[in-house]
Amino acid sequence: MQTEAKPYLKSIHIEKPKGKEGKVFPFNIPAIQSIDYLDFHPDVTFFVGENGSGKSTILEAIAESFDLSAVGGAKNIKFSSRYDKSPLHQHIKCQKNYIRPQDKYFFRAESMHQMGNLLEKTWREPGSWLSKSDVFSRFKGESLHEMSHGESFLELFTTGFRGNGLYFLDEPEAALSATRLLSALVRIHDLVESQSQFVIATHSAILLAYPRSRIYLFNEDGHRQVNFEETEHFQITRDFLNNYPRRIQQLLRPTPLLDWLEESNTEDKKNED
Ligand SMILES: Nc1ncnc2c1ncn2[C@@H]1O[C@H](COP(=O)(O)OP(=O)(O)OP(=O)(O)O)[C@@H](O)[C@H]1O
Ligand SMILES: [Mg+2]
Repeated sequence: MQTEAKPYLKSIHIEKPKGKEGKVFPFNIPAIQSIDYLDFHPDVTFFVGENGSGKSTILEAIAESFDLSAVGGAKNIKFSSRYDKSPLHQHIKCQKNYIRPQDKYFFRAESMHQMGNLLEKTWREPGSWLSKSDVFSRFKGESLHEMSHGESFLELFTTGFRGNGLYFLDEPEAALSATRLLSALVRIHDLVESQSQFVIATHSAILLAYPRSRIYLFNEDGHRQVNFEETEHFQITRDFLNNYPRRIQQLLRPTPLLDWLEESNTEDKKNED
């Protein structure tokens, strides 16, 4: 009988501290306050929600539990940005498969430039015994500074992720052109087919359409599982593209959002009648 490797990450449990500590960051974020246990899809789990709803905070705490740096990268890459250690790390327990992923990576769009600098420094350091192709092995041996932002993202997804892996992606859509975003979606599927699992924080309606997935929405009420078509990403994107001349006209008026909301409320009412 074949043993199932996936999911490498089965669930998380967040233990909230009592007293003062339980009321300040990160426990003042409604999603973090509301999560007791959260189950993960064996293929792809998405975190969605407004800016500031806690997606990155949870993602980096989970990545740390897999011995990845909270600021991104592979196991052996450490550099500091907003903090060295996730503030949630000590309070999060991950239920893991006893079969470990053979590859793992925490991709953060926001720290790719910093990572490029760090790898460049490692390679050029006097006395470094690492060759350029060793240092940039996840980027086909090329320096990140010799590629455009979007090219380096796709290079990492296509040649840098090796399969049988656990991948944490924070806004992978940033910097990708529309065509490359579709290529990234195809690559995610290839990796899922080769025994990989993903946890992805995203604002992209296109990525969220991936069917072998579960979507968790974080908002001011806490968190809940939603279907793709229930997400704002789907609804607003579809509405905008279907009605863009009118929506643009409404948005560029002095009270744009009010006009838009009034119209969609009237439409909702009509549908109810
Ligand atoms: N070190 C910190 N100290 C205090 N508050 C913080 C700290 N880091 C983040 N926050 C706050 O925690 C909240 C959640 O931040 P987080 O980065 O997880 O949001 P997000 O859902 O990833 O948002 P986005 O979609 O913009 O990336 C934000 O309101 C942010 O200001
Ligand atoms: Mg974020």
